[in-house]
Amino acid sequence: MIITIDGPAGAGKSTVAREIARRLGYLYLDTGALYRALTWAALQQNLPVEKPEAEAPLAELATHIRLELAPVRVLVDDRDVTAEIRAPEVSRRVSYVARFPAVRAALLSLQKRIGAGGHVVAEGRDIGTMVFPQAALKIFLVASTTNRAQRRAQDLAKAGYQVDLTSLEQEIRQRDYLDMSRTIAPLTKAADAIEIDTDQLTAVQVIDRILQLIPTSAWRSAKIQ
Ligand code: CDP
Repeated sequence: MIITIDGPAGAGKSTVAREIARRLGYLYLDTGALYRALTWAALQQNLPVEKPEAEAPLAELATHIRLELAPVRVLVDDRDVTAEIRAPEVSRRVSYVARFPAVRAALLSLQKRIGAGGHVVAEGRDIGTMVFPQAALKIFLVASTTNRAQRRAQDLAKAGYQVDLTSLEQEIRQRDYLDMSRTIAPLTKAADAIEIDTDQLTAVQVIDRILQLIPTSAWRSAKIQ
């Protein structure tokens, strides 16, 4: 049983996916963390990630560094980068990195390997369409840009970053544009995904709605309830 949760930045994917995985005793797979970790590693090496010539070194980097998703931590070659990968400079560049087909190919096989055992709640942009198209339940979360920017500003404030709401909104629009317009695996709703608009809902309400959609067979195989 695989559950996929896709959608744009700030639609609430992480909170919801993490809690659903916890309730089912499933593995939580944050695929955005992999793209962010690779972006962080590329910035350490001063790779010009916005430029086409960055594709080959980025793909090379993706296959040579060890990206590890521990339960609540993200590691690059054993270094804990959990906080660093959420920094605004990574957020501003990650969608450029994610546009390169060679980068996506390298990370696709890693994601498939992580999910091979099943019992996964995976979140991202192309999980229902590309990574796990066979998933039993696919959710697509949406929300207005204003709400998404406000939620993201709150997350960043908690992490100690003071950000201007207008520029954050612009950044989210730019990231949406890059994610939706790329040639390979763009951000789009899978034909068989269920869309939930989270504008008027609390995280708990979204979680309850998704839990109701989970087939009984999945609850039978769940480790925790
Ligand atoms: O947490 P937030 O919604 O801001 O983004 P994220 O899930 O951490 O993903 C960061 C970026 O990685 C996205 O904007 C995409 O450019 C890229 N990404 C992707 O291309 N495919 C995925 N499956 C997950 C993320």
